[in-house]
Amino acid sequence: MQARLLADIDSAADLDALEALRVAALGKAGGVSALLKTLGGMSPEERQVEGPRIHALREAVTGAIAGRKAALEAAALEAKLAAERLDMTLPADAAPRGSVHPVSQVMDELAEIFADMGFAVATGPEIEDDWHNFTALNIPETHPARAMHDTFYFPSQMNDADTRSIPGEGRTERRAMLLRTHTSPVQIRTMMSEAPPIRIIAPGRVYRSDSDATHTPMFHQIEGLVIDRGIHMGHLKWTLETFLKAYFERDDIVLRLRPSYFPFTEPSAEVDVGYAQEKGRRIVGGHGDDEGHAWMELLGSGMVHPRVIANCGLDPAEWQGFAFGVGVDRLAMLKYGMDDLRAFFDGDLRWLAHYGFGA
Ligand code: PHE
Repeated sequence: MQARLLADIDSAADLDALEALRVAALGKAGGVSALLKTLGGMSPEERQVEGPRIHALREAVTGAIAGRKAALEAAALEAKLAAERLDMTLPADAAPRGSVHPVSQVMDELAEIFADMGFAVATGPEIEDDWHNFTALNIPETHPARAMHDTFYFPSQMNDADTRSIPGEGRTERRAMLLRTHTSPVQIRTMMSEAPPIRIIAPGRVYRSDSDATHTPMFHQIEGLVIDRGIHMGHLKWTLETFLKAYFERDDIVLRLRPSYFPFTEPSAEVDVGYAQEKGRRIVGGHGDDEGHAWMELLGSGMVHPRVIANCGLDPAEWQGFAFGVGVDRLAMLKYGMDDLRAFFDGDLRWLAHYGFGA
């Protein structure tokens, strides 16, 4: 019995088989247990002979089971370790990496260029009131320029009870809330909160109800504002030229200043940049008009209107300045060759990758 039992234990295939053998030998109804029970019915002489034999058998079986159990457990652990082993020499899967969006990229580039010229970055809210977005910028409620802006208003704010008092005028005005249509309200907020001299740019999102290949309902502008003594148009032109040459990284930038009109600047100039089309890519630079030269309207600018300076509590006799508002998305299109503004905001990774921005 012993030899057979020990052989079975040693060849038990797994822990379950081993447990079955243990129950069959040492369990209540097991073979070894039955032998132990026979000791009670033996004479003392028989018991002296059989007792040690049966106990030795039980010891041997118990020991064999423990030994096999340890071996099976060790083997199981080995197998598990082998299965979970990492081959550190295998090439890793390339994890998809995000990239900076062209608009953010351009905003960063511009902040750097203007920082070199001594401009700080200012911000203002995207949900603006109509005083900062229009009235303070010399666009009174009846002014046709309000209609030109295709403004998104918040309907709940369009009631007469919602009024604000006009600083220094002792009267109130309806205070409609809207999505700012340009970054120019940051001019107002900056002049009202900081003492001149002022030199800031204000990058951010702006909103107009408009959509085609070069217009999206949300787009990005960078406002520039300089307020100091003795500022004139020459400072404006130099600043714009310097920044555009730095941005496009070339000296032969063609700028076209057109006389224009903004209620908050006088005189006003609209600035276009010339570009040539080459295999679907826009190349900004010195091409003549007869060589397929096209212009892209890039920014509005001018000398800050004295009334705007006065609206902010400054004396226009002492302080003058210039301001400009640049379309950031258009700057990105020109530099990186995209031709549909709407794709900027579709979140299509293939589009980003196509223009060198994807992973
Ligand atoms: N705010 C004007 C626009 O969005 C641009 C501008 C800014 C013009 C500053 C003049 C001065 O069209």
